[in-house]
Amino acid sequence: MKKVAIISTKGGVGKTTTSINLAHGLSLNGKRVILLDCDPQNNVAEIFDLENGEALSDLLLGKKANMTEVRRNLFVITSGGRQLFESEWEISRRKERDKVLSFALEDLTNCDYVICDCSSGMNLININVLYFVEQVIVPVGMDYFSISGLKQTFELIKEVCQRTGHQVRLMGVLATQYDVRTRISREIYGVLGKLFPKELFKTIIHSNIRLRESPAYGMTIFEYDISSAGARDYINLTAEVLAGER
Ligand SMILES: Nc1ncnc2c1ncn2[C@@H]1O[C@H](COP(=O)(O)OP(=O)(O)OP(=O)(O)O)[C@@H](O)[C@H]1O
Ligand SMILES: [Mg+2]
Repeated sequence: MKKVAIISTKGGVGKTTTSINLAHGLSLNGKRVILLDCDPQNNVAEIFDLENGEALSDLLLGKKANMTEVRRNLFVITSGGRQLFESEWEISRRKERDKVLSFALEDLTNCDYVICDCSSGMNLININVLYFVEQVIVPVGMDYFSISGLKQTFELIKEVCQRTGHQVRLMGVLATQYDVRTRISREIYGVLGKLFPKELFKTIIHSNIRLRESPAYGMTIFEYDISSAGARDYINLTAEVLAGER
């Protein structure tokens, strides 16, 4: 079982888009995938049209969470929306507050991948996610603040590892929302290539209107428009993750 967080302290960089499409891509390849929504924005529930049932917010408080098979081999645990804030507050008073998620999911077996869609920012839920996972994918949007956002993300990861002794490996840095028409995309991508010669995914996620549209129709990109550039990019990313070179 591979436990992977899609994480960045910076907002709007394509974490949810990547989580959903990578999770579906892996499940289309026959993998059993659990998509864990760790963001109170509850975007995953919205996209898959899931009711407010027992969620991650309940799991953190020692209760059970629903795991809904939304597509063949793709299972979702919703975040609980703003309830997740309350659970975060609740667990913040505990002694082992960083490890609550890991303890809650200790018995999780029978799946190939757990993909955690994180919220942006530094918060206790993300710290719990980092203690739970073994690997992270860090999406980076092609804009001016992305490099400083990246620095902050790695600081958070480092801090959690140092504090808990847990090891988290960088599966890859993922360039997202790449617009071939802009110089800033080329520049930021060039900087990433220098900073992460080995860790930068070969796949680039281009800016693609179909990726923006698909959630509104409750579909992943593979359902909404399989012939789109967005689908091609996420097929390539899925293949790169499956190749297991990372
Ligand atoms: N490659 C892309 N091309 C075009 N639009 C994209 C792409 N990736 C994401 N978007 C759009 O950008 C917005 C932000 O994407 P997304 O929600 O995936 O980011 P996020 O990192 O999860 O944001 P948050 O920090 O709020 O959780 C959404 O409207 C999404 O549809
Ligand atoms: Mg998101």
